[in-house]
Amino acid sequence: MSSLTIARHALEPLTPDEIVAAVTVIREQAKLASSYRFVSVTLREPAKEIVLAGKPTAREAFLILLDNATGRGYEAIVDVAQRQPVSMLPLREGVQPPIMLDEFVECEEAVKRSPEFLAALKLRGVEDVNLVMVDPWSAGVYGTELPDEKHRRISRALCWLRTEPMDNGYARPIDGLTVVVDLNTMEVLRIEDHGVIPLPPTAGNWAREYIPETRPDLKPLEVQQPHGASFEIDGHEIRWQKWRFRISFTPREGLVLHTVSYRDGGRERPILYRASVVEMVVPYGDPRVQYFRKNAFDLGEYGIGMLANSLVLGCDCLGLIRYFDAHMTDSRGNLVTIKNAVCLHEEDHGVLWKHTDWRTNQTEVRRSRRLVVSFVATVANYEYGFYWHFYQDGSIQLEVKLTGIMNTTSLHPGETPGYGTEVAPQLNAPNHQHFFCARLDMNVDGQRNTVEEVNTIGHPTGPDNPHGNAFTAKVTPLTRESVAARTTNAATSRFWRIVNPQQKNKLGRPVGYRLVPGENAIPFADGEAAVLKRAGFLNKHLWVTPYHPDERFPAGDYPNQNPGGDGLPKWTAADRAIDDTDVVVWYTFGHTHIPRPEDWPVMPASSIGFFLKPDGFFNANPALDLPPSPPKPECCH
Ligand code: NI
Repeated sequence: MSSLTIARHALEPLTPDEIVAAVTVIREQAKLASSYRFVSVTLREPAKEIVLAGKPTAREAFLILLDNATGRGYEAIVDVAQRQPVSMLPLREGVQPPIMLDEFVECEEAVKRSPEFLAALKLRGVEDVNLVMVDPWSAGVYGTELPDEKHRRISRALCWLRTEPMDNGYARPIDGLTVVVDLNTMEVLRIEDHGVIPLPPTAGNWAREYIPETRPDLKPLEVQQPHGASFEIDGHEIRWQKWRFRISFTPREGLVLHTVSYRDGGRERPILYRASVVEMVVPYGDPRVQYFRKNAFDLGEYGIGMLANSLVLGCDCLGLIRYFDAHMTDSRGNLVTIKNAVCLHEEDHGVLWKHTDWRTNQTEVRRSRRLVVSFVATVANYEYGFYWHFYQDGSIQLEVKLTGIMNTTSLHPGETPGYGTEVAPQLNAPNHQHFFCARLDMNVDGQRNTVEEVNTIGHPTGPDNPHGNAFTAKVTPLTRESVAARTTNAATSRFWRIVNPQQKNKLGRPVGYRLVPGENAIPFADGEAAVLKRAGFLNKHLWVTPYHPDERFPAGDYPNQNPGGDGLPKWTAADRAIDDTDVVVWYTFGHTHIPRPEDWPVMPASSIGFFLKPDGFFNANPALDLPPSPPKPECCH
């Protein structure tokens, strides 16, 4: 094996050599049997104080393991430089590590070997099992589990049928069938057959070869950067304009931002210590017996980093692009590199500011350019694109694009769907929601921050407001966890502001960043529904906690087959103080998807997210120093 590469910065992701070393050390020194799977191997991020002080630190790997023989999960820590295991501890009884990509493949194979499954296919006139697609849906916990499911690692697989190898199978749901699989033994425990529903009659293909004619009138639109890109890269540190930050990539979260700062005059001003999407939940609204369990936790039960696309196979960014690879392992501990997992590029973004003085005819306009760091994950049928945008006025935006193929079920001829939309003949796309939770470890000009809520209030007509036009912004500091669990409110144009009470701007007020909500939704599942016990954080859009290194995932570390009670609702029950301290802001945003025929067979991207905008962080518009764009020749007549 090659010698260990010593990474330069404490937050540099594990190198391929370090990943291989971590696997080898734990396998050899803990004498792991071949029944052990490697769920994930990531950098164990050093303590925040050590990173911020720039102190040297050990390079440690954090491993999640699963022993298929006993069904037990483990967490291990390995010192990769010293080649020493530090610890290996079993997971709490009853929770499961996330479902691994290898298990997707093995589960499908196991189902297709089952004679009972083949018999159920036969009932439905399906001849060629090779054209069947088996998606390993997570099982959740609903209190309906049969005795043989208890203490097992379960998937409740759902199936679709292709008509030929490249056909879109989601056009033909093999409805009424759920296959209960033990993922440790890859044994089919049971086929639940709720009755035959005929396959929908029409194909739903999007691939080029299925589209006979494409529109002929598009002329080329090229982005040229003849002098190169304006960013600089050192390892995983990125500098662009006045921004400076680091990135990493984990199998669970995908892209992570670290130590985001902005250069203001001669000062490097911190804004965020760490930011990532830490959970996604997709609850479906179909109550039928074969579908009420469809509530995917795409991070905690699977892992959107593990499911990231290699953009070698298709990247849609224009201009000069710099890619970053993501290194992880397969379930057997073999190194896996997702080539070009992360895309970095600049985009023109229209007008940033403009004014024409109508008296003098003087016009000044500045175009906005943004830096985009992105990746795309394919979670079976759906695609999620995650785009962090950095702007020249100090704003940061997280944009999530939802595309890919909707999940589907079949309809009898003439049947009207009860809980969805018929998107093609006899094809139902059920109503569902997509929730995303971003964990924002704020560091606005230092670690001691306070979160405020700002509600705009219209004043009643009265002696001080004789014409009834007055409205003001009411600021309320959120001082304890119990008062900081909040929802958005269109009626008060509600937003939140993260301020540093110690640092004042030129106007004498605390510097801050505003969290600007975008589209949002509340869960439509009943408060007593299992999904809301397991993902209690969905009941609020904002949570604020004092920083704790172990509080990383809002539904807890292991949501797979977890009956619930972990994560934000549990931690915040302690009602800790959150003013003028190191705070973490958790923002959940949801999209309600009532499907349209136009979302079929592949969905035009829907976009959702939020902004972090400076609010008194600067003394004036920080983008006054942008140079004007050179004038362009006229084009059209
Ligand atoms: Ni959707």
